[in-house]
Amino acid sequence: MIQLEGITKSFGSLQVLKGIDLTINKGEVVSIVGPSGAGKTTLLQIMGTLDKPDAGRIVLNHVEVNRLKDKELAAFRNKEIGFVFQFHQLLPEFTALENVMIPALINGTSGRNARKEAEEMLAFLGLAERASHKPAELSGGEKQRVAVARALINHPSVILADEPSGSLDTQNKEELHRLFFELREKLGQTFVIVTHDETLASQTDRTIHLIDGRINGESTHPF
Ligand SMILES: Nc1ncnc2c1ncn2[C@@H]1O[C@H](COP(=O)(O)OP(=O)(O)OP(=O)(O)O)[C@@H](O)[C@H]1O
Ligand SMILES: [Mg+2]
Repeated sequence: MIQLEGITKSFGSLQVLKGIDLTINKGEVVSIVGPSGAGKTTLLQIMGTLDKPDAGRIVLNHVEVNRLKDKELAAFRNKEIGFVFQFHQLLPEFTALENVMIPALINGTSGRNARKEAEEMLAFLGLAERASHKPAELSGGEKQRVAVARALINHPSVILADEPSGSLDTQNKEELHRLFFELREKLGQTFVIVTHDETLASQTDRTIHLIDGRINGESTHPF
């Protein structure tokens, strides 16, 4: 599903990623943990093609993304990768429904179908009643679930989440985590989740430990 080989990245004289090799399989829920500054966000951004590595290869769903031109890459990213960030990053002037529709519209879905699919997705996530609300009129947990609906709308190969529950209280946090695993069960959705939450990490199939720009082992969690 995702293969990273020999990924390095520096910002000025600071080498943040020092040679990352990592494979993510379809249907896996993988967590990435490590101290602040270890390079987790940088790695996720590179995995999501939002940033480019200095060296190394990224193959996503059989496509070597380094070879795509900017326009192709933007279309590929919109279709194949869903993002969930710590702060929802919904567009404030649009309703929940419109926020979820936007990636579908960019992907070429007609307005009518995008609306229908977005309505179904919001209903699936228990947000049917919130569809016409703007982000400011939603709770923190609801905003994150709308962000998940937006990430899912194009049926991406993978959802990349950077501390998705980092700004939520305990109950909303647990609900969001349950949702990830439900999406894996029902849709076979693949996830890579950067988290400081040890409970979440221990629930994932595999935890990658990133320290100082290197993978320092991984743990699996059989149940
Ligand atoms: N655009 C940038 N320009 C310069 N330095 C950067 C940039 N992005 C990240 N860094 C530096 O790279 C290092 C790794 O940052 P990164 O955001 O990947 O860490 P992280 O593991 O996600 O940390 P946290 O847990 O605090 O989110 C840090 O020292 C950071 O200051
Ligand atoms: Mg980070």
